Amino acid sequence: MKNLTTTLAGSLIAFAASLSAAQAEKLTFYCSAQEDWCQLMARSFEDATGIDVNMTRKSSGETFAQIRAESSNPKGDVWWGGTGDPHLQAAEEGLTMEYVSPMRDQLHDWAISQAESAGNKTIGIYSGALGYGYNSDLLAANSLPEPACWKDLLKPEYKGHVQMANPNSSGTAYTTLASMVQIFGEDDGFKFMKGLHSNINQYTKSGSAPIKAAGRGENTIGIVFMHDAVKQAVSGFPVKVVAPCEGTGYEIGSMSIIDGARNEEEAKKFYDWALSPEAQNLALEVNAFQVPSNKNAETSESAPDMSQIKLIDYDFKKYGSSDERKRLLQKWDEEVSVLPQ
Ligand code: F6P
Repeated sequence: MKNLTTTLAGSLIAFAASLSAAQAEKLTFYCSAQEDWCQLMARSFEDATGIDVNMTRKSSGETFAQIRAESSNPKGDVWWGGTGDPHLQAAEEGLTMEYVSPMRDQLHDWAISQAESAGNKTIGIYSGALGYGYNSDLLAANSLPEPACWKDLLKPEYKGHVQMANPNSSGTAYTTLASMVQIFGEDDGFKFMKGLHSNINQYTKSGSAPIKAAGRGENTIGIVFMHDAVKQAVSGFPVKVVAPCEGTGYEIGSMSIIDGARNEEEAKKFYDWALSPEAQNLALEVNAFQVPSNKNAETSESAPDMSQIKLIDYDFKKYGSSDERKRLLQKWDEEVSVLPQ
């Protein structure tokens, strides 16, 4: 009898524990910004709300592919960070859901227009200009000239010294491809990518990897968002940041709620919180130098000054459309990546 009572009590406790575990609020958070910022956002949201966060960091194109692969049985709730183009493509393909946050009127126009062009299925959280950075010690050690323009990167003396990410996995690299097409026109843009290919030492998966490698002295020039190069310089590495002379593209880093999210209410709480000045100011703690989308959030003094950079009128709608993104990536795969180096 005593045994039976003990067993019964034990089962009741286990049942109660499993019930409360089932009821605990949780959030599956897909993150495509830099790893340390993703970690900080996850922990700070947990502290602010008590909601358990399970965060995975993957590059923009990779996360898009994952959300699409999981679409019949979505596992993620919210996708924060990463370049806007794949967020726009996800919206067009019905992979993300419409949501209008009460925080919206605190945002810059560029963040709101990102939402408007996607039927409110995404929103801008930060922006940043594309460029490149180089390790000035390595450049000097190899007696290389200081590059200042996109076209400089085609010079034969830079062979094996330039690194960028693969545009299929990385939003940074897709922004590079789409920017070259917009700056030089499609034919010359692809000619540029082919010329660049001869100088590339490696296509990485993640967009910021080439400048981290430059910081460590393992690569000379990295094509990245300028804020990622500034982060290396501010961390004490001999990295110089370049805003290319022809002008350059930029990103509207975005956030979307995944259609069919299992934890939709938690995803909305995260979304509203992530648009607040307090949450956006967390960027400063991890040297993330993008421009925040909330007008009341702080921009670091080290952030590249967007008003001083020659920015192109990047056509987010066109280059974030499903057909165009697929077409450009396929063309790059077939005409550029296969060329001998
Ligand atoms: O490292 C930060 C960052 O450059 C973001 O500004 C950008 O949205 C994201 O990384 C892009 O990463 P990836 O190129 O790996 O998709």
